Amino acid sequence: MNLSEFLPSKKTLYDQIGAAKLREIVQIFYPLVKAEPLIAELFPDNLSETMNKQEAFLTGFLGGPPLYHQTYGNPMLRYRHAKFAITPTRAKAWFQCFSDAVQAVELEPSVRQELLEAVARTAAAMVNSPEDKL
Ligand code: HEM
Repeated sequence: MNLSEFLPSKKTLYDQIGAAKLREIVQIFYPLVKAEPLIAELFPDNLSETMNKQEAFLTGFLGGPPLYHQTYGNPMLRYRHAKFAITPTRAKAWFQCFSDAVQAVELEPSVRQELLEAVARTAAAMVNSPEDKL
């Protein structure tokens, strides 16, 4: 038996996507968010800090250097989102924007799929409010 198949693969999702495309996704994503009436009001008009934080977060989340941790500390994402009423409808709208941004860049289909799955799971975990609060 060969141990290699049990060892984590050396290429992370971050490696496979690359820093430039990850940045592009984030840069496409937030304008879509601001154009989506279900969630736009939650976000500041100046999105540059939000974009920097998201790019740093996703870098570490996808297996790259832990940039968010280094600058801002533990992400504690549920906690940091607690002040926003994230209903299932808002989470779906957020994820639709993210998915549209990911579709806009060229990626291997399997890489695209893995990225979307990882972020979808996280988006679902961010729901903190029942639908009727909207
Ligand atoms: C499910 C729907 C989601 C909604 C409605 C939402 C909304 C927000 C809002 C309103 C902010 C504050 C923006 C600002 O003031 O700069 C924020 C920050 C952030 N979000 Fe989300 N978010 C969602 C899901 C996610 C997911 C899935 C991730 C990660 C994959 C994520 C990562 C972040 C990060 C890293 C920040 C910056 C936190 C900080 O340091 O302040 N969010 N989000």
